[in-house]
Amino acid sequence: MAIVVTVAQQKGGAGKTTLVAQLAAALAASRRVAALDVDPQASLMRWQAARKSALKAAAAGLTVADCAGWRLAGEIARLARSHDVVLIDSPPHAETEARLAVRAADLVLVPLQPSPLDLWATEPTLALAHAEKRAVRVVLNRAPARGRLLDATRAELARAEAPVLAAALRNRSAYPAAMQRGLGVTESAPKGQAAAEVRALIAELSDWLGST
Ligand SMILES: Nc1ncnc2c1ncn2[C@@H]1O[C@H](COP(=O)(O)OP(=O)(O)O)[C@@H](O)[C@H]1O
Ligand SMILES: [Mg+2]
Repeated sequence: MAIVVTVAQQKGGAGKTTLVAQLAAALAASRRVAALDVDPQASLMRWQAARKSALKAAAAGLTVADCAGWRLAGEIARLARSHDVVLIDSPPHAETEARLAVRAADLVLVPLQPSPLDLWATEPTLALAHAEKRAVRVVLNRAPARGRLLDATRAELARAEAPVLAAALRNRSAYPAAMQRGLGVTESAPKGQAAAEVRALIAELSDWLGST
């Protein structure tokens, strides 16, 4: 059975699709990975289409599917049978599909840009993960290396007892640039700083993902 990781965050633009694509591409080097696009915007499907033309069909090396509505739980279970990791890009609201995606998860990752508005918007997502009794980790995205806002965000998350990963993604053009090509940064620029961030993130999640 696969490990199911749901990337959830009600706030649009927080980095859900970016995080799913980066993890999927990096993990696909050593594991059978499926990514499930539950967002009606279907950005992950667009990424996969670019990926197929960049890497040529089978070489894309991972399964990307979309799914909505009542079929979701069944689709997650189906993908879990034939993969090692299932990553779910969940829709930006806290309704049925987001709840099902969280319920199916072994781990819920919540990308968060360090800003008060994003922090407040994250509360329903954290509450949902809590209500479903899922392990949850906040991933700071587009994070500055240091500064007052970063410290305040970490402090507020600590007060809310929301565990935050030490590994964070900085604001780097390498991320959208790789997305545009259907790649992850570990593929487009494996020696770059963005790739190092993604690898550090995966290393910190070794309790769920194992070590590479
Ligand atoms: N770490 C990052 N550095 C630079 N740009 C980023 C980063 N993370 C996300 N972005 C950009 O921010 C926008 C929103 O990210 P996206 O992954 O689509 O968020 P969501 O899926 O939560 O709506 C996109 O244009 C994406 O390329
Ligand atoms: Mg998205």
